[in-house]
Amino acid sequence: MRKPKINRMALAMCLGSFVMLIFYFQNHLKPAQDSGQARGPRKSVRSPLQALYTTDPTELSPLQLMHQSRRDLLEDVCHSYTNKRRVLIPEDLKHLIVDDHHGLLYCYVPKVACTNWKRVLMVLTGDTQRDPLQIPANEAHVPGTLRTLSEYSTSEINQRLRTYLKFVFVREPFERLVSAYRNKFTRSYNTAFHKRYGTKIIQRHRAEASPEALERGDDVSFSEFVRYLVDPGTQREEPFNEHWERVHSLCHPCLIHYNIIGKYETLQQDSSYVLKLAGVDDEVTFPSSAKSTRTTADMVASYFKDISLAYQKKLYNLYKMDFLLFNYSMPAYLKFT
Ligand SMILES: *[C@@H]1O[C@H](CO)[C@@H](O)[C@H](O)[C@H]1NC(C)=O
Repeated sequence: MRKPKINRMALAMCLGSFVMLIFYFQNHLKPAQDSGQARGPRKSVRSPLQALYTTDPTELSPLQLMHQSRRDLLEDVCHSYTNKRRVLIPEDLKHLIVDDHHGLLYCYVPKVACTNWKRVLMVLTGDTQRDPLQIPANEAHVPGTLRTLSEYSTSEINQRLRTYLKFVFVREPFERLVSAYRNKFTRSYNTAFHKRYGTKIIQRHRAEASPEALERGDDVSFSEFVRYLVDPGTQREEPFNEHWERVHSLCHPCLIHYNIIGKYETLQQDSSYVLKLAGVDDEVTFPSSAKSTRTTADMVASYFKDISLAYQKKLYNLYKMDFLLFNYSMPAYLKFT
């Protein structure tokens, strides 16, 4: 049992060090001088990454300055908080969706408009022009529909990391978490999540659970969900499900130098900016989302009323990197400080 594991580790380290080498160069690269993007017919000569960096730094618009300050802040937080010796392995790149037609890399984060971004990328990488909203949501999530960076060879990975525009969309961490809870545990149709996670949460975190609750797992409370998240045994057993895993772990923002950090709070504006950089803003429009079932800040605060101060603190510590990296302040409803 032990030996193959060590060999796999060595292989992973080896692949990782290749990827790391390129990350080192990535910092010093002047993208405007890069001649990548030669492959495939393209209308525009400039790649999205080149488009981002062609503006004279003294003439940046307020929008460009805001994105610059998001990148700078993230870089600062990475330097002060993270272990720089962590290496990246292809396994870490499973959330990065590749658009080889336009030169885009998108790290998808569930509960941050990822269905709409996947739809848009299906339109951009497909050969038929369609309205993104005509693609059914479930079709956008079928594995294999879009290619992820982990499927490529190491040299192909490095070439793409160096020359493509890398972007991610983030959201206030607890708003995202409550949104995931509401979507996965309070909707009767999500039976797969109830069976897979709900039954386990009730079994471990509810005293004197009824046989029906143990069997169905469909009435998990938010405080039971929080206890499941902060229980160290949960992550020892398996990684968090992507719906509540931290962006820090899904997208590795301290190792992958994202060019655009989009936010759910400014979704339309940031999405349009990415599409403009990609030179496709006249071909595809980012769908505006229906606000009816949206999780609001007030709603989030009401969920936290039932959480003890000790658990509020544990939960904040769990998601702390996502708060810091993306400049979200500690919510005012948290009372443990
Ligand atoms: C961080 O957030 C604060 C308050 O929301 C804001 O004033 C500031 O400009 C932000 N900084 C960056 C670098 O985005």
